[in-house]
Amino acid sequence: MRILVTGGAGYIGSHVIWQLLEHGHTPICFDNLTTGHADAVRCLLVEGDLCRREQILAAFAEHRPEAVIHFAARSLVSESVRDPRRYFRDNLLGALNLLDAMEAHGVRSIVFSSTAATYGVPSKVPIPEDHPQIPVNPYGDSKLCIERMLISYGRAYGLRSAILRYFNAAGAAPEQGLGERHHPETHLIPLLLEVASGARPRAQIFGRDYATADGTCIRDYIHVLDLGEAHLAALAHLAAGGESLALNLGTGTGYSVLEVLAAAREVTGAEIPAEDCPAREGDPPILVAAADRARARLGWTPTCSDLTSIIRSAWEFHRVRAERA
Ligand code: UFG
Repeated sequence: MRILVTGGAGYIGSHVIWQLLEHGHTPICFDNLTTGHADAVRCLLVEGDLCRREQILAAFAEHRPEAVIHFAARSLVSESVRDPRRYFRDNLLGALNLLDAMEAHGVRSIVFSSTAATYGVPSKVPIPEDHPQIPVNPYGDSKLCIERMLISYGRAYGLRSAILRYFNAAGAAPEQGLGERHHPETHLIPLLLEVASGARPRAQIFGRDYATADGTCIRDYIHVLDLGEAHLAALAHLAAGGESLALNLGTGTGYSVLEVLAAAREVTGAEIPAEDCPAREGDPPILVAAADRARARLGWTPTCSDLTSIIRSAWEFHRVRAERA
């Protein structure tokens, strides 16, 4: 299939493009390169901005995709709390323009990157897909609006969507030269590895008095390649005429910040000094997926998402890059 991948130069998108190629698909990457990296894109890269309607329409006219995977978005919780306008404008306007272009060109299948942040502070853990969605930050709000758009467009115009709610994407594909490269980095695992390699003096632990066993936040970390496999399965589901669905992508197992720190120390053999810091605004205490629906509906099971494998792959990527620099 010819698949337009928005945000394909970003962390998750670049891995999925590589996996699409491996499975014989023809991805076309559409990315404005504000946060993504051109050198991570292993297919045709169309530089363009989803907020510029004419640019996405032109990409559809020229490349004639049969389906879309929509990654492009602003995606940092704390940034969204500080600058909500940018999150609503870029994420919602981008989605509107993309859906218009799909409509104009008769493309009816979309896999959408949603997030556990749409659930807010869960009243039940593990979180099932039918849990109330009450986001606690503008990032989650913007993603939830898009989920609702997809459902309405489905009812009104026959659009079919696979809404994939990611828990915490992590890990890398070091053999492919792919991994997490955010500037500035804000995510826990790459930050711990920067400390392990000496690029940062110490790690920060955001909040020690959450209502969790050790007082730190608990997250469900999922390997980026496992996420990618779920996208392939979702595309196949839609291509076979399957109905729209919304699925959690997580493992069902949560780790606290202190547990991730201990695992990073173990993998790297480095001390990784860490200091206690105030809790970060907009961070719910626990996000862990009920993971069985994706298994039942897509036949998808994570295969490389144990915490040690995730950190090991990210560490390998980090070391190769540090050696090259
Ligand atoms: N954390 C620290 N210190 C750091 C960085 C993070 O203690 O230096 C903590 C955070 O408070 C959080 C956990 O580590 O509890 C994970 O934080 P990340 O920044 O790695 O990831 P988030 O949970 O904030 O966000 C990720 C994605 C979001 C998505 C969310 C859903 O980036 O897009 O998961 O769970 F919405």
